[in-house]
Amino acid sequence: MSENKLHATARALVQDGKGILAADESAPTIKKRFDIIKAESTEDNRRDYREMLFTTPNAPQYISGVILFDETIRQKAADGTPLVKVLESVGIIPGIKVDMGAKDLAGHPGEKVTEGLDGLRERFADYAKLGARFAKWRAVYQITDTLPSPACIAVNAHALARYAALAQEAGIVPIVEPEVLMDGSHTIERCDEVTETVLRSVYGELAIQNVSLEGSLLKPNMVLSGKDCAEQASVDEVARRTVRCLKRTVPSAVPGIVFLSGGQSDEQATLHLNAMNKLDEPRPWKLSFSYGRALQAAPLKAWGGKAANRKAGQDAFFERAKANGLATTGAYA
Ligand code: 13P
Repeated sequence: MSENKLHATARALVQDGKGILAADESAPTIKKRFDIIKAESTEDNRRDYREMLFTTPNAPQYISGVILFDETIRQKAADGTPLVKVLESVGIIPGIKVDMGAKDLAGHPGEKVTEGLDGLRERFADYAKLGARFAKWRAVYQITDTLPSPACIAVNAHALARYAALAQEAGIVPIVEPEVLMDGSHTIERCDEVTETVLRSVYGELAIQNVSLEGSLLKPNMVLSGKDCAEQASVDEVARRTVRCLKRTVPSAVPGIVFLSGGQSDEQATLHLNAMNKLDEPRPWKLSFSYGRALQAAPLKAWGGKAANRKAGQDAFFERAKANGLATTGAYA
């Protein structure tokens, strides 16, 4: 695939008014979500739930792409149509999560390194055949007074860049996801400092490994107060600090930044994105969303594992998709 095609896909994912649905929960994670609504995590239930989201009427007005899990990209809708075709038929771009999860980093208690590089070239070839046009790899960083360590930052940046280069070789747009976790009692200043260090390291490594920035997207955390910090920053402060941090670290060749929600409430995630897009200052990249929990918490609850609640689930999903779609242009009220 030509470089221009990669660039076009990246830009299409962040076109005005649209963002990404992250529906790539691994088997253990989707089970945790289903446990909340007391639904059994069977292959059919996972298919029914995701098919419900993917076929929500008018959602493609606000959703440009969906990140799938390995099981889902191979799954068929109830009527036998592959779910990838279901997405393509409504103009949604299919994507795939390719990392194999964050594992304990040897010699560094409390820290993780994301695995999944072995055999990734072959897996990308397979996913490209199945219809994936973009991909995701998530690295995680825990904040404490002394973490993340330089080692954790270095190995995860290296792996993110190895993944991104392999994705582009296969004609697939890499979403590079370094997630500084909001767990902990740290201040917003500390999150700002760590996020800046992590992003500098990631973009340094992407440059070393010749990743085409125009054909990539960044999926970062927002700069937030730790979840257990006594003093919680205002929406305005989160918006200003996040954009400032990104301006200091993310090259202007990157077409878009799609935030993760990371455990924020769905309303907070929307308000923060909206406030960033309302800031009266120039920005080189689009600011959009690639939310999992912030898009799915409401529809999951409304669906509750029951076929009879399908429409209620879709209505709830549409409402979240619309709110976030509007927030990509600062038009959410
Ligand atoms: P959350 O929005 O729930 O953080 O999920 C996004 C995601 O894809 C995490 O990897």
